[in-house]
Amino acid sequence: MCGIIAITTSSNTKVSKLITTGLKRLEYRGYDSVGIATINQGKIETLKDAGTIDRVNQKLNFENLEGSIGIGHTRWATHGPPNQINAHPHADCTKKIMVVHNGIIENYLEIKSDLERKGHIFTSQTDSEVIVHLVEEELKLANPPKSVIQAFKNTITKLEGAYAITLIHTDEPETIFLARKDSPLVIGVQEDTKFAASDIPAFLEHTKKVIILKNGEIGVITPKTVYIEKNGFRVQPKPFIVSWTAESAQKSGYPHFMLKEIHEQPIALKNTINIDSEELSKASKKILESTRIVFLACGTSYHAGLSGFHQIQRILPKKPIYPIIASEYETYSHLIDEETLIIAISQSGETLDVMKALSAARKNKAQVISLANVTDSSIPRLSHISLYTKAGPEIGVAATKTHTAQVALLARLAIQLEFEAGELSKDDYSVQVDNLVQQTPQIVRTVINQNELKAKKLASIIQNQNHSYFLARGLNMPVALEGALKLKEISYIHAEAFPAGESKHGPIAIVETNFPIVMIAPDDWTTKKMLGNAEEMKARGGYIISVTEKDHRITERSDYSFFIPKAFSPIINPISYVVPLQMLAYYTAVRRGYDPDKPKNLAKTVTVE
Ligand code: G6P
Repeated sequence: MCGIIAITTSSNTKVSKLITTGLKRLEYRGYDSVGIATINQGKIETLKDAGTIDRVNQKLNFENLEGSIGIGHTRWATHGPPNQINAHPHADCTKKIMVVHNGIIENYLEIKSDLERKGHIFTSQTDSEVIVHLVEEELKLANPPKSVIQAFKNTITKLEGAYAITLIHTDEPETIFLARKDSPLVIGVQEDTKFAASDIPAFLEHTKKVIILKNGEIGVITPKTVYIEKNGFRVQPKPFIVSWTAESAQKSGYPHFMLKEIHEQPIALKNTINIDSEELSKASKKILESTRIVFLACGTSYHAGLSGFHQIQRILPKKPIYPIIASEYETYSHLIDEETLIIAISQSGETLDVMKALSAARKNKAQVISLANVTDSSIPRLSHISLYTKAGPEIGVAATKTHTAQVALLARLAIQLEFEAGELSKDDYSVQVDNLVQQTPQIVRTVINQNELKAKKLASIIQNQNHSYFLARGLNMPVALEGALKLKEISYIHAEAFPAGESKHGPIAIVETNFPIVMIAPDDWTTKKMLGNAEEMKARGGYIISVTEKDHRITERSDYSFFIPKAFSPIINPISYVVPLQMLAYYTAVRRGYDPDKPKNLAKTVTVE
């Protein structure tokens, strides 16, 4: 969490303006406080405060900061409440060094008390502030004096935990010092300007040439140069050109990123499913060779994993498959050995819970396939095979297009697997792939067109409710879970999902008149039982909202229905059925007066455990 950006330029540009726009693009990573520091005529200038970027910028006007080098930070508080003092950047005692940091320095209390004994005065409650004081201390002690880079490197060796760091020093007014471990940091390359940021959209409108800093790497950028080293050895960086466009990281006329991203799903799906079968074939072989499979992910990606679990289990009914929430990995670690295949799913490719679990699994010699949206991010780098969703950058904190793209990629993988397992003839395989490629974007487009107004209207009906249930069975359960997560995370209505059959074992106790109950009910083996569950809820006054096919019997028991076109195969259902629920969550949040792009207490990329 937290977004950082640093810029150094020789092009006579005031960087404060570029940093402010860059921070706006990173706001999805945290937004409780914000700050920028520049070096102007050999002196540090800083502006920072608690609040969103717009609010703080309105109050302080970041463009008042002069200088062609600077660092900026948008915060998601971990150590110390969001206030002016704890906002980054942080200075050392001499006010010559400034740092911004994303991650957690786990041993900061020991470092801090040691430095305080040596006379350092700390002003904030953050863990991050130790970094600048450590650099200051390293420089102070050295005889003969150390270079800033040497002091920086020594500092990094003393830090435990996760970090992406950018640091500036007035003695080197063109240089930005960088380090990363477990928190993302990417470099943007332009002729006369270099950028370092937590994520590519921060500088996408200036350059598409990107270098991803890897774990353990330390770097130095100046307007014209990039230097990277690892364990004392120089690393030759490999820049690549991202295919994302600058517009893809902007709202393009939509009131919120979330709504734009919901509408981008047909294209995100099309781009994702049109994948080369070679990689899928390799992945399928790994699945077939493995003794057991573990899906590993968090949040929305975990729901995609559940969907993958159902799809693969259908093809390989005897294979033990376990969907595991990454932060719960320890409980299942006894299952992980060289015969285990992990399928790790992560939009960002940087979620620390997943990375920690994957590192542990790699130590146990497990094989790893990953699905990520961000090219060359950490999780793909920990994997033997990396598959990518091609959803483009997702800025809204609540995942939408990346989720349906993950489920679609897993559906495509399932078709490949069925073929490689000898369960599908060559002809049937081609038909299935064609259907998936043709129908999925089309069906999702229809779902949006036919249900958006309905979602808006339903939002006005349920907006004053405090609780809701989402019920489904079998393969449809991931949809219920995802629908509930969307509603609770952005509208703050309590939403709980559970298998419909469980409702009578407790949850039904709190159902009363107008209690919203969303029922995911495609026409499949679950129909009959779902009808029974709908009756039970209705008898207690529940307000039944069904997501179903036209003419499905459940509509007779429903107070409100979303209709989903029938697809060639149920494997599309976890994609198409979730879309009205994304729209319902979006419009409910808006009706309740909340910003769906910035849900309180959440961040898009979670780089703490
Ligand atoms: C955070 C986000 C969720 C996301 C989860 C996993 O909690 O708020 O929207 O699903 O992280 O993120 P990942 O990048 O690993 O998919």
